[in-house]
Amino acid sequence: MIDFRSDNVHSVPDQIINALIDANKGTISSYGGDQLTKKACDLLSKTFNKDLSSFFVSTGTAANSLALSNITPPFGTIFCGEDSHIYLEECNAPEFFSNSAKLFPIPTAEGKIIAEDLNRYVSSHPSDKFDMVASSLSISQATECGTIYTEKEIDRIFRIAKQKNLNIHMDGARFANVVAATNKNPSDLTWGLGVDVLSFGATKNGTLSAEAVLFFNKELCENMNQYLKRSGHLLSKMRYLSVQIIGYLENDLWLELAKKANYQANKLSRELKKFDFITVPWEREINEVFLLIPNELEKYLEKNNIKFHEWTKVSLNKKCVDDKSKFIRLVTSYNTTDDEIYNLSELITRY
Ligand SMILES: Cc1ncc(COP(=O)(O)O)c(C=O)c1O
Repeated sequence: MIDFRSDNVHSVPDQIINALIDANKGTISSYGGDQLTKKACDLLSKTFNKDLSSFFVSTGTAANSLALSNITPPFGTIFCGEDSHIYLEECNAPEFFSNSAKLFPIPTAEGKIIAEDLNRYVSSHPSDKFDMVASSLSISQATECGTIYTEKEIDRIFRIAKQKNLNIHMDGARFANVVAATNKNPSDLTWGLGVDVLSFGATKNGTLSAEAVLFFNKELCENMNQYLKRSGHLLSKMRYLSVQIIGYLENDLWLELAKKANYQANKLSRELKKFDFITVPWEREINEVFLLIPNELEKYLEKNNIKFHEWTKVSLNKKCVDDKSKFIRLVTSYNTTDDEIYNLSELITRY
């Protein structure tokens, strides 16, 4: 079997497991009142070069939903991409956690919201005194298509968001891969551009179960402790989340892992582009490779135990949609091997 289903199908690196083992001694304050949690928060402030407020949870869905609940009232609207994870794949958790704020989908191109579209949607949003209130914007960086918004693209979107008084959330489930791909400072990709709160993903890139919600705008997290507790996401044994974040950030392990994952995806993409019956709808930028392949090839790969996910054609934006091909996503991780990539390529050569 060769497994390209997701980065989260992979094992946890030794550094994270060792950090957990080292922390597994003695008694320590619970609910985050411990020194390890303080150290993790300090490391995050240092990494983002900002005095920020950090909160740790165990899933990306919880991170997104709690972040959005804090920046959106129950009667508010959250603008987001039509293919965003929060809109399509979180079982309405953002609405549930926020006590019924509304997700408002905006068309995307290669995963990106375009400034003109945002402007159009926000400008035509109802604004009578008894209407719902345009409250926040959520973008995914990297996008659901594995593409990366440029600073210019983000600047144009955020200008509109700020003009319209929207709070800004970034879903950074694969933020590490963006930093690794662009070599930019985490600060320049987030609060430097105007992001108020980031879901800083870590599990896809190596932790066992730790994600951080980072409020760069500290005024917006006044009620976060209450939201955490009432949603059942305040861990009593917080040290075990905190040490994962410490192990992840120390010695820049997070960037080392993300660089390897991106590097392997680049190799995979190069190999697969050799086949003229495979269509690449957009260029790979992080550790995800999207392809359109003939239906027969998909059956052949399945028969040969190659694992991957079929992807929603919403992301294709009507580009190349027909019944003769499948739209698929292949994801690499820090421990995807060269053999796995070249064996897949070899297998397709024999198709
Ligand atoms: C962009 C994005 N955001 C959030 C999540 C949610 O993460 P989790 O599955 O840990 O809830 C995912 C997971 O696939 C994702 O791809």
